[in-house]
Amino acid sequence: MVSKRVEGICPSLTLEITAKAKKMKAEGISVIGFGAGEPDFNTPDYINDAAKKAIDIGFTKYTPASGTVELKKAVCDKFLKDNNLVYKPEQIVISSGAKSSIYHALAALINEGDQVILPTPFWLTYPELIKLCGGEVVYIHAGEESGYKITAQQLDNAINDKTKCLILNTPNNPTGAVYSEEEIREIAKVCEKHGIYVLSDEIYEKLVYADEKHFSIASCSDYMKEHTVIVNGMSKTYAMTGWRIGYIAAPTDIAKAVSSMQSHTTSNACSIAQYASTEALTSPEGDKFIGEMQQIFDQRRKFMVDYLKNIKGIVCVEPKGAFYVFVNVSSYYGKSYDGKVINGSLSFAENALKLGVAVIPGIAFGDDDCIRLSYAISIEDIKEGLERLDKFITSLK
Ligand SMILES: Cc1ncc(COP(=O)(O)O)c(C=O)c1O
Repeated sequence: MVSKRVEGICPSLTLEITAKAKKMKAEGISVIGFGAGEPDFNTPDYINDAAKKAIDIGFTKYTPASGTVELKKAVCDKFLKDNNLVYKPEQIVISSGAKSSIYHALAALINEGDQVILPTPFWLTYPELIKLCGGEVVYIHAGEESGYKITAQQLDNAINDKTKCLILNTPNNPTGAVYSEEEIREIAKVCEKHGIYVLSDEIYEKLVYADEKHFSIASCSDYMKEHTVIVNGMSKTYAMTGWRIGYIAAPTDIAKAVSSMQSHTTSNACSIAQYASTEALTSPEGDKFIGEMQQIFDQRRKFMVDYLKNIKGIVCVEPKGAFYVFVNVSSYYGKSYDGKVINGSLSFAENALKLGVAVIPGIAFGDDDCIRLSYAISIEDIKEGLERLDKFITSLK
């Protein structure tokens, strides 16, 4: 029998729909997948070349558990350049992907029974990892009326003696919401007032649009820097999802705890991927690649939002970051497709799949009114997929 700790962990709904769509494709059925959680760009050549070099020079052995000195220094330089934050290498821990960083950071922060505040909609991994670490999830809802962002007042109301930390994810998966500097400063004031920590997931930092700027809560004050664990990584910024490199910047005691825990779980992240990541972060080619990718995502984002706004009954808040659009389709609930009543985001997604379009049900992110559409696919596929979605919606009775 599996342990109590693991018993309550939900399997990923995202993967379920994606698996169904894959199976249909394998059977020769045309499916447009709006489920992608990774950039559809290749890892740039200069990064691939660095990995090849790492192999050629025999950089293929264990590294320190917390990462190579070179990569940690490159990460410190990134924080100074992008976020005006000064970190020492001993405050940085490199992990096998940001997901692993989050798990280890939560394990270092949470005691059994501690509460962790999680704004909804949320990236589906957070609640499961909080539970796995013995924490209790406290959800606060941010609907479309507030642009899917929580207010400082909501946070203030949710905090009690058991609250240990807040998870803040900006730019946000699944909504694409980006908190402004002003909004973050208000939230920081509440955290400071109550003495709680923040786990700030900034993995989509570079993917912001329409004059939005990413702002890290750690840069609000010395206090916040001492009470924030920033999570970031290579996956989304450099199209390196398969390389599995994530990192944290944290107060020294937390970084030390994460490093020592990691030394017994995964040990160091892949040496070759670390070597390539150092090159990714330090070469001037990086900014060029990110700029080009960002521009293409922005074109698709605009196209998608314009199209969706013309579909009757859909409510779509314009996303300002990441590569997702979160769409409210609840006005169609109660209608039927092929004799089957659509009663929530899961049955909406299951039935839309019959017309060859795969979307992720919002219930996976804690919001059953919505579906998530990713624009990490070609503009041609976006167009075709939206036409199918429109056709599906029009055929509802
Ligand atoms: C908000 C968020 N944080 C973290 C991650 C994990 O990234 P990694 O590939 O580095 O594990 C993802 C991946 O989808 C994400 O959406």
